[in-house]
Amino acid sequence: MVLQVKGITKRFKTQIAVKDLSFSLAEGEILALIGKSGAGKTTALRCICGLERVDEGTIVVDGLPLCTEGIYVDQKEVRKVRQKVGMVFQNFNLFPHLSVLENIMESPVRVYGMGKGEAKAKAMDFLQKLDLAEKADAYPHELSGGQKQRVAIARACVLEPKVICFDEPTSALDPQLSEEIAYVIKDLAKERNLSVLIITHDMNFAKRTADRVIFMENGEAVEEGRTETLFEDISNERIQKFMSN
Ligand SMILES: Nc1ncnc2c1ncn2[C@@H]1O[C@H](COP(=O)(O)OP(=O)(O)OP(=O)(O)O)[C@@H](O)[C@H]1O
Ligand SMILES: [Mg+2]
Repeated sequence: MVLQVKGITKRFKTQIAVKDLSFSLAEGEILALIGKSGAGKTTALRCICGLERVDEGTIVVDGLPLCTEGIYVDQKEVRKVRQKVGMVFQNFNLFPHLSVLENIMESPVRVYGMGKGEAKAKAMDFLQKLDLAEKADAYPHELSGGQKQRVAIARACVLEPKVICFDEPTSALDPQLSEEIAYVIKDLAKERNLSVLIITHDMNFAKRTADRVIFMENGEAVEEGRTETLFEDISNERIQKFMSN
């Protein structure tokens, strides 16, 4: 398993955002996290990416522990683990004052000490793959929503993570672009054996992309199953009710 999450709990003061959440992710597998607003999906993802610290539980990425029963590895090790988990944010979080190419090269060069030549070659490779090579010198405000999304994906991929996390990748896109992003994500998972975690409200998108689904409620995973099995099980009232909303 590329990612193992065991019994993680995250509190904000008295609020329990994520409660005893466990799951694992195989190589090349795509897992969707669904559930109502406030269910704890983003918080769970932020903990897995190392942007937020859990209070309890264990997270292991590609054999390297990030934390064990709530105790974190040291800063240097945390950075190593974080390199293995890419994150694409809901609003893309591109740096407005940097070009597309600079956006992608920033973290490998500044944070991870990759040589500029290597970072540029890798960045261009992903831009080519995502059909954006001609936008390398453009600035974020000059791009469409779908193009910004693809730059954010290239930026998350350039460090060659084992796992990539998406928070609502289609919320800013029209249906046709959503379909395109579904294709890009599936292609990456297949071609690079990348494991993918996706938060989505879009059930069609979840059906199109995910191998497996976890349904969260009040910080807990309350349903889990293969995508087709879970969505087509009409006896599952919780899922049917969620889908009809
Ligand atoms: N930084 C924070 N400080 C305090 N409470 C927080 C913080 N981040 C999240 N929460 C709380 O934790 C709970 C889970 O929030 P989270 O953002 O993980 O939900 P979500 O499932 O991603 O919802 P949405 O679908 O609306 O994005 C919510 O009750 C939220 O108010
Ligand atoms: Mg969220």
